[in-house]
Amino acid sequence: MVKLEELRKKVKEKILLKGFTGTGKTYTAVKIAEVLLERGEKVVAVDTEDGMGKDLLKLPEELLEHLTLHICGNYNEFRKALDTLKGGDNKLVIVDSLSHLKDYARREARLRLLRDGKFYMGEKTVKIDNPDTYTLRGYQYALPNIWEDYFLGDLVHCGANIVATLMVDPLTDFTDYDGAFDIVLQMYYIDEEEKRKWKAKILKNRGRSDETVGKGLNNPPEQLTKLFKKEG
Ligand SMILES: Nc1ncnc2c1ncn2[C@@H]1O[C@H](COP(=O)(O)OP(=O)(O)OP(=O)(O)O)[C@@H](O)[C@H]1O
Ligand SMILES: [Mg+2]
Repeated sequence: MVKLEELRKKVKEKILLKGFTGTGKTYTAVKIAEVLLERGEKVVAVDTEDGMGKDLLKLPEELLEHLTLHICGNYNEFRKALDTLKGGDNKLVIVDSLSHLKDYARREARLRLLRDGKFYMGEKTVKIDNPDTYTLRGYQYALPNIWEDYFLGDLVHCGANIVATLMVDPLTDFTDYDGAFDIVLQMYYIDEEEKRKWKAKILKNRGRSDETVGKGLNNPPEQLTKLFKKEG
């Protein structure tokens, strides 16, 4: 018989924080990391914006002992960081952000196809005569979408809790990545009497849908860190 406690340990939170710039995605992710680092848990941070790393390094030095930070500027570095997660005993993996993933993948695909002098259309392989002058169009290469799928799948099944961020415009609700996550929050703030209030709209809350979806959440970093404190 599998013990309930063992099963509980296997259940991970996969959280996607979406929102326009300045809505507190990185701040919230760093707060969650801090709670876990204080408990001596292993945290991996994947920074694609050269932003979160700076915030994390401001944490007390003794907390950084259990932190691994990857700063990734292209698809291969991103892929490599992801490959290090497999089988690790990491408690939390933060990716800030997923916004560049499509661009990284497209750039890499473009480089490889031009280097190889060919692209694929369905089952056909089309030769590129002069890679210096040829312009690849989006529909001529499906590779980036496939890579993106692999990446998301590998990330959410790496065995750790996940907090990922995605820059979206304030009017966007659902995006492609939502399916891979359990909790999806649209982050925002309102300014009231010169005081900024940090908020989020719950777009998805797997298994806890009825009561919460579409509702607002005050102070997302506080609410989300509670989730991890409870899990203890
Ligand atoms: N809950 C909060 N309480 C206090 N300050 C906050 C809170 N959330 C965000 N901030 C502050 O607001 C600013 C913007 O937050 P943050 O960098 O997390 O935004 P972001 O959503 O990651 O933006 P971007 O998409 O540009 O990366 C930062 O200075 C951060 O310290
Ligand atoms: Mg940010």
